[in-house]
Amino acid sequence: MAKENPDKPLPPGTIEHELGLPLPGAILPPEKWTVSALRDWPPGGVVDWEGLFGRRAPVVVDVGCGNGRSVLLGAITHPEQDFLGLDNLPLVIRYARKRARQRGLGNVRFAVADARTALGLHLPAGTVSQVHIYHPQPYYEPRQANRRLITPEFLLAVHRLLAPGGLLVIQTDNPAYWQYIRQVAPAFFDFQEHPGPWEDAPEGRSRREIMARRQGLPIFRGAGRARTDIDPSAARDLAAQLPPPAFNADRRLMALDELEAAGLGGDAPGSAQETGVVRRTGPANPQRRKKIWRRRSRKDRGL
Ligand SMILES: C[S@@+](CC[C@H](N)C(=O)[O-])C[C@H]1O[C@@H](n2cnc3c(N)ncnc32)[C@H](O)[C@@H]1O
Repeated sequence: MAKENPDKPLPPGTIEHELGLPLPGAILPPEKWTVSALRDWPPGGVVDWEGLFGRRAPVVVDVGCGNGRSVLLGAITHPEQDFLGLDNLPLVIRYARKRARQRGLGNVRFAVADARTALGLHLPAGTVSQVHIYHPQPYYEPRQANRRLITPEFLLAVHRLLAPGGLLVIQTDNPAYWQYIRQVAPAFFDFQEHPGPWEDAPEGRSRREIMARRQGLPIFRGAGRARTDIDPSAARDLAAQLPPPAFNADRRLMALDELEAAGLGGDAPGSAQETGVVRRTGPANPQRRKKIWRRRSRKDRGL
């Protein structure tokens, strides 16, 4: 299968497709390309949004943004907002950066970062208008449960990052993860479930959403404004009382993760990645899984 090179520019006018669907935006000639990488945290460690984007605008942070589809969609449909995509996997960020750069988007930056560190240390509290989290990794092995992103402490960090009344948008295809999110998110957010697809993306905002829907998996979506009736010390107390994410993520759903890992960038027409067809249930093939994960270097996995 021919794989897209994450660093090779595409000719102007190319329509990029992912899973048979066009990626938002068009490839522009090189003279219109922009800088889309945030490579280092600034001296002092905390991002100055105005310095980064060259203007003062509402900021949206996409946590675990993968190869950037949801960020591109947001940045193109909302040019009045600025977007920062974070992912701890360097390879997906290379694809995401190339896509934003070649589309000439001035309102997008992507950083390779552990979201917990970024929110805890590098993003200024009370400054962000929205945080989006599309399909956080479920992690199926009990010993990996401590890698799950959504914890009371992480929601506390999101609450702290958001400006008063700022919005959390979150979704998953994992039923157990969703039960957990429904249990803990209302402590910090006026959380509502969102029935059906988001209006701006009837086929899915993110790559993972599109893939999951092709498998007939349900998508659980929700959003909520940061509660303004809890002060920082009450929020910390709340976080300490909430349970950790110790749910059973159901290994039968692992096949989708394999498919996702195997097709990180663009997709060859007709490939499994392009059509999105994969076994829906049943144990994942351990040999194949090993092969896929060997291909991703330890560095790319953020280890
Ligand atoms: C299931 S993928 C979803 C990607 C994308 N949001 C989508 O919906 O297509 C989860 C992503 O979260 C990233 N991730 C996992 N843990 C992370 C962390 N602690 N910090 C930043 N990114 C993380 C993974 O590298 C992966 O790209």
